[in-house]
Amino acid sequence: MEIMVETISCPKCGQSIDPSSGKCAHCGVNLALAAVLAEQKVRVSTGLLPDIHLSPEVLVPRLGDSLTEQGLLTPDELFQALSYQKKMADRGQPKLIGQALLELNIISREVLDQAITEQILQLQSALRAANTELENRVRERTVELEHALTRLAELNQLKSNFISNVSHELRTPLTHLRGYIELLGEEVLGPLNSQQLDAIRVMEKADNRLGSLIEDLIQFSAYSQGSLDMRLIDTNLADIFYEVSSKASQKCEEKQIIYQEKISQNLPLVSADPQKLPWALLHLIDNAVKFTESGGRVQVGASLEHGFVKIYILDTGIGISKEHIREIFEPFHQVDGSSTRRYGGTGLGLAMSQQIITGHGSKIVVHSKVGEGSYFEFSLPIAEINQS
Ligand SMILES: Nc1ncnc2c1ncn2[C@@H]1O[C@H](COP(=O)(O)OP(=O)(O)OP(=O)(O)O)[C@@H](O)[C@H]1O
Ligand SMILES: [Mg+2]
Repeated sequence: MEIMVETISCPKCGQSIDPSSGKCAHCGVNLALAAVLAEQKVRVSTGLLPDIHLSPEVLVPRLGDSLTEQGLLTPDELFQALSYQKKMADRGQPKLIGQALLELNIISREVLDQAITEQILQLQSALRAANTELENRVRERTVELEHALTRLAELNQLKSNFISNVSHELRTPLTHLRGYIELLGEEVLGPLNSQQLDAIRVMEKADNRLGSLIEDLIQFSAYSQGSLDMRLIDTNLADIFYEVSSKASQKCEEKQIIYQEKISQNLPLVSADPQKLPWALLHLIDNAVKFTESGGRVQVGASLEHGFVKIYILDTGIGISKEHIREIFEPFHQVDGSSTRRYGGTGLGLAMSQQIITGHGSKIVVHSKVGEGSYFEFSLPIAEINQS
C-alpha cells in the first residue's frame, strides 16, 4: 500500500517546506512563529479568537524553539527536556526549560546564558518597536483629538452666537405684539365683549411665557460666552426670602401643593448677588413645584452651618434616577426630552442656576430618589463683615 505524504507549504511564501527544518529554505521565515501567526489569522477570521495585536511574546520565539533553530539543540533533545519538565511538574517540582536542559546536561551553562542574553536583546528590541508604534499612534490620535476639539469649540461658538442672535431678533416682534395686546386689553382700540377679553388674557399669558423664555435664552447665551457679571455684595437673606416666598407660595397654591419654610432667624449677611441669587432660588423652587403632583410638598430651608449659610429646596415629586442626576445640569437637557413630555420648559433653568451658584463660589448638590422626591442644596459664604 502506498502512503501519501501531503506536502506542506510555507505560510509566508507558499513554497513547499521540509517539516523537520525550523526555517523555510525559500524565504527564511521562522516556521514556528509563522505557524502561530497563520493559526491566529485563521482563528480570527473564523471568529474563534479576538484580533490580538502583535506583542513581544508573539514576536520572540520560545527559548527551546530558539535553541533548536540555532542548531544548539536537536528536536529530540528538546523533546527529552520537555518530557523531563513535565515529569518534574507532575511531581510538584516545576522547572524552567533552561534548568531542565542544564540538569540533563544537554547544553552547557555558557551556551544557555548566551541564548538567554540573545532572547533578552530580541525582547528589548521588540518592546522598543512596540513602544515606538504605540507612541506614533498616540501622537496621531492626539492630533485628531485636537482637531476635533477645535471644531467642537467652533461649533459651540456658532451655537451661542445663533442663540444670542435669534433671541435678540425675537425680542423686537414680541415687543410689538405685547404693545398691541396691551392696547386691546385696555380697550383703547375699542370696546371688547367678555369673550374677547378672555382671549386677550390668554394671549397675555402666552406672551409672558414667550417673553421669559427669550430672556432665559439671552441670559444663557450671555453666561455661556463667559459674560456672567456677578455683583457679590453683603446681602441680607431675609430680604431675598421675602421676595422669593410670596412667589413660591403662590405657585404652590395654584397647584395645591403644601409650601413650607424652615428659615433660621437672624441669619448672618452673606456674600451674594441680590439679583441673580433670587432668580436661581426661584428656579429651583419652580422645578420643585413643576415636578411634584398636587397634594405633594415643597420645602425651602436655610440655616447657618460651619461658617456658611446652607440653603435647600426639597420636594416630594417624581424624583430623578441616579444615572440622570449628572446630566440635568447640561443645557437643554431634560430627563424626559420627548415631544410628548408632560412637563414644559426648555431645559436651561438648572444650567443657569448652576452657573449663578458657581459664580458665588459654591455648587449645587442633589440627592434624589425616583418616586420619592428631590433635594437640592448649596451653601453661601457669610459676608466678611460678620467675621470682623
Ligand atoms: N425637582 C425636580 N424633580 C424632578 N426632576 C427634576 C427636578 N429638577 C429638575 N429636574 C429634571 O432636570 C431637568 C432639567 O431641569 P431644568 O430646570 O434645567 O429644565 P426644565 O425645568 O425642564 O426647563 P426650564 O427650566 O428651562 O423651564 C428637568 O427637565 C427634569 O427632568
Ligand atoms: Mg426648570
